[in-house]
Amino acid sequence: MAENLLKGKKGIIFGALNEMSIAWQVAEKAKEQGADLILTNAPIAMRMGEINTLAKKLDAPVIAADATRDDDLNALFEQSMTHFGGGVDFVLHSIGMSPNVRKGFPYTASNHDFYLKTLDISGLSLHRVLQAAYERDAINEWGSVVGLTYIAAQRVFPDYNDMADAKSLLESIARSFGYHYGVKKKVRVNTISQSPTMTTAGSGVKGFDKFVAYADAMSPLGNADASACADYCVSLFSDHTRYVTMQNLFHDGGFSLTGVSNAVMDKFSEE
Ligand SMILES: NC(=O)c1ccc[n+]([C@@H]2O[C@H](COP(=O)([O-])OP(=O)(O)OC[C@H]3O[C@@H](n4cnc5c(N)ncnc54)[C@H](O)[C@@H]3O)[C@@H](O)[C@H]2O)c1
Repeated sequence: MAENLLKGKKGIIFGALNEMSIAWQVAEKAKEQGADLILTNAPIAMRMGEINTLAKKLDAPVIAADATRDDDLNALFEQSMTHFGGGVDFVLHSIGMSPNVRKGFPYTASNHDFYLKTLDISGLSLHRVLQAAYERDAINEWGSVVGLTYIAAQRVFPDYNDMADAKSLLESIARSFGYHYGVKKKVRVNTISQSPTMTTAGSGVKGFDKFVAYADAMSPLGNADASACADYCVSLFSDHTRYVTMQNLFHDGGFSLTGVSNAVMDKFSEE
């Protein structure tokens, strides 16, 4: 599907950790569609080295930035403006981590220092990214910023833990900053609410494989995978979606509006 939807566009992709990462797929598809990229991730993720394989393949520089550090983000946007000789046209925020989930603390016994870290890494970081760009005028007119989220922001998924609260914050920031950036520069800001997907972050959630199977059985189209999510991101970076902003867009095979499916009901039948 190389339609050159992003020909001449420049973008920054946060969050490609390994081949399973949604951001990895987005980077590959954006390049396929003609974009020039900068890849970024937290310094600790760099040490695992896999991002360099992607960078080589896509001929994209890698700039380390911890998304909870304003200095790192300011430097990232300054270096990207030098590299591209101007602003970028799109940014993917594909960042999530909860120390409470990672260390197995249940929601009702959260460690609150960890909780604040979850909010900072997985929610507030979108504000930090947008503010760093806004202050430097680092995103071109009609640019597009996409963050990735999950339906636990609206409905309870008990083991998603404090990530649910971080995703609510993330979606709210997309709306609020989307207003201001729209007025200032016609930059659009949206979140994509993605089906559960087998990645490093996803599989940190307790019982994730059952969770994936349940969502698949509940979705008329089945779960959307990382590659389909990447296609959707590309469409949101493209000029075909210029008036879509401040939205939380469900990319979940219909899960969000399905009350119950026959496939799930069948599991409760006696025969
Ligand atoms: N996998 C799923 O089921 C699923 C579903 C819906 C939404 N999402 C969201 O998609 C996004 C991408 O996750 P993924 O599933 O591809 O997993 P992933 O583990 O591949 O990606 C998460 C990324 O966040 C990065 N990160 C963590 N802390 C950071 C920091 N301080 N600064 C910069 N980067 C940091 C990690 O290095 C990693 O690259 C996340 O926002 C996640 O919540 C995932």
